[in-house]
Amino acid sequence: MGAGIAQVAVEAGYDVVGREVAEELCAGARERIAHFLQRKVEKGQMSDEEREATLARLSLTTELARLDACDFVVEAIVEDLEAKRRLFPELESIVGAEAVLATNTSALSVTEIASSIGTPERVVGMHFFNPAPLMPLVEVVRAELSSEDAFETAYALAAALGKRPIRCHDTPGFVVNRVLIPLLNDCIRALDEARVSPEDLDTALSAGAGWPMGPCRLVDLVGIDVHVHAAEALYEKLREPRMAPPPRLVAMKNAGLLGRKSGRGFYEYESA
Ligand code: 3HC
Repeated sequence: MGAGIAQVAVEAGYDVVGREVAEELCAGARERIAHFLQRKVEKGQMSDEEREATLARLSLTTELARLDACDFVVEAIVEDLEAKRRLFPELESIVGAEAVLATNTSALSVTEIASSIGTPERVVGMHFFNPAPLMPLVEVVRAELSSEDAFETAYALAAALGKRPIRCHDTPGFVVNRVLIPLLNDCIRALDEARVSPEDLDTALSAGAGWPMGPCRLVDLVGIDVHVHAAEALYEKLREPRMAPPPRLVAMKNAGLLGRKSGRGFYEYESA
């Protein structure tokens, strides 16, 4: 997700510093972005020179301190409230006083993340959708203490990135996941109840309901672990049974079948 967001920003002309936790992840992110830009060149959507210039706007580092000159930070680390609440104070101590700090959380509370720092007014949610370079929507989320300035800066940035932003408040799952998570859970429950194969379930929803990809492929794309985490977070907040992750997905997560990123979920994949 982080690489996808970085790709969107460099393509829109911004200088981007991407921070990964290990050198090999930095290399992987650059390779992934270079690959998708190369496909654009091959399809005549970008010149070689534009590709080079776009890649030159991207620097990757393992050192958080290298974000010191950034005036806007989009955090996209693991979906773990405590991990985010540990990271934000570090970010606050590194960036300038005017910098906006956005979290790309799927289902955690932006307000709870913001309350980990002394300047919560600079924190907003900026929720991209997977795959970030292709999906137009960005939910711009106003937390309890977000300033008007930070919120509108995030909204304007999303628009400048070529996305279609919407404004919403910090409620569990915001807009899309509030609706999509229980719907995907229902789809997975139907696998067992209707005794259909993942392939047939996917055909059902794409050929019968116009979905661009079926639910099993979509959960594989999002990541089984990410989906299960978001479902648990929504269930914890809303206590609606449909929000709870189906046992089948929890078992897949525990077995390391995480979908596209691990090479196997409902389907098998050659590359992430
Ligand atoms: N990054 C950058 N570029 C990519 C890419 C990626 N991850 N994946 C594909 N591309 C590029 C490729 O270059 C590809 O062209 P190529 O095949 O010629 O190389 C080009 O985009 C088009 O790819 P596809 O042929 O796969 O595109 P489709 O027309 O089939 O559309 C899709 C793909 C947009 C993913 C479409 O299937 C779709 O809309 N699926 C639904 C996705 C969705 O619902 N996402 C939301 C998930 S929920 C979420 O993210 C919330 C979170 O909080 C859990």
